[in-house]
Amino acid sequence: MYTTKTLQDEIIRLKKEKDVCILAHAYQSQDIWEVADYIGDSYGLGLEAAKAKQNIVLMCGVRFMAETVKIISPEKKVLLSHPMAGCGMAEQMDFQALLELKKAYPDYTVAAYINTTAKLKTLCDVCVTSSSAVKIIQSLENPNILFIPDCNLGAWVQSQVPEKNIKLVQGGCPVHKLITALDVERARSVHPKAKLLVHPECPKEVFSRADYVGSTTGIIKYAKESDAREFVIGTDSSIVEHLQFACPQKKFYYLSKACSCNDMRLTTLMDVYRCVKGDGGEEILLEEETLCLAKRCVQKMMELESV
Ligand code: 13P
Ligand code: SF4
Repeated sequence: MYTTKTLQDEIIRLKKEKDVCILAHAYQSQDIWEVADYIGDSYGLGLEAAKAKQNIVLMCGVRFMAETVKIISPEKKVLLSHPMAGCGMAEQMDFQALLELKKAYPDYTVAAYINTTAKLKTLCDVCVTSSSAVKIIQSLENPNILFIPDCNLGAWVQSQVPEKNIKLVQGGCPVHKLITALDVERARSVHPKAKLLVHPECPKEVFSRADYVGSTTGIIKYAKESDAREFVIGTDSSIVEHLQFACPQKKFYYLSKACSCNDMRLTTLMDVYRCVKGDGGEEILLEEETLCLAKRCVQKMMELESV
């Protein structure tokens, strides 16, 4: 019988033996964080994948994240930790719908949130992540931007970059949209001293009332560095748990416990073990043409982000 600790030790031994780099999105559980080589938000994970010296990258997260790693590092073997871990937002818009939109807005630069399929990325001009969106949209020459598929992140960018004409498309994260203005009102009255930190995938009525809006890594950094003692967290519930481990002297509260991504919960430590052993997960395979075309908008994001 395994305990969490013996399973973790075995994963750490195997990942060295088999030359596997384990990347974990910040929404993964604590036991997975502890065996990962890098933990971060979507943008940070992409950068780390490019730097990784190992030949195999195991992405503990959801499909679009593993696809992004494959697009950035096509020579590597990329594994998704659980074959069913998708993203409700990434799968919302289909290829044909975007083709139609591009026809309707021919002079617009198409900016895609990284939470999109590789196939959809082949039609886009530039990608953004929650941590890079404002900077990237600001730096685009074209004043007209077609922003897909998250209208909440798009609305957040609009509020920060009013000089751009941003066309939003109806879509967004089915999990973050469960957070409401009423949750904010309740949290403010029950925890009046707490800072409210939220992800830009939350609806406008929520992010416009927050003390800080940022990516998962941004929220974690803000909470760790802040002098405040109490925080209400408006993103996937796992972040409350991680912050409570990282800063035991501070207090963290859920803005809404309903905000919990089932796809991010799919991967277990046992899945990670099976993946590093070589009999689990799913290898991400993309057609050459998809890889080539999708790479342009991911590369453009990396260029603009590093300026
Ligand atoms: P991050 O860019 O903050 O990692 O967000 C990705 C995501 O899917 C959040 O729901
Ligand atoms: Fe996708 Fe939302 Fe889950 Fe993030 S929280 S992976 S955007 S469904």
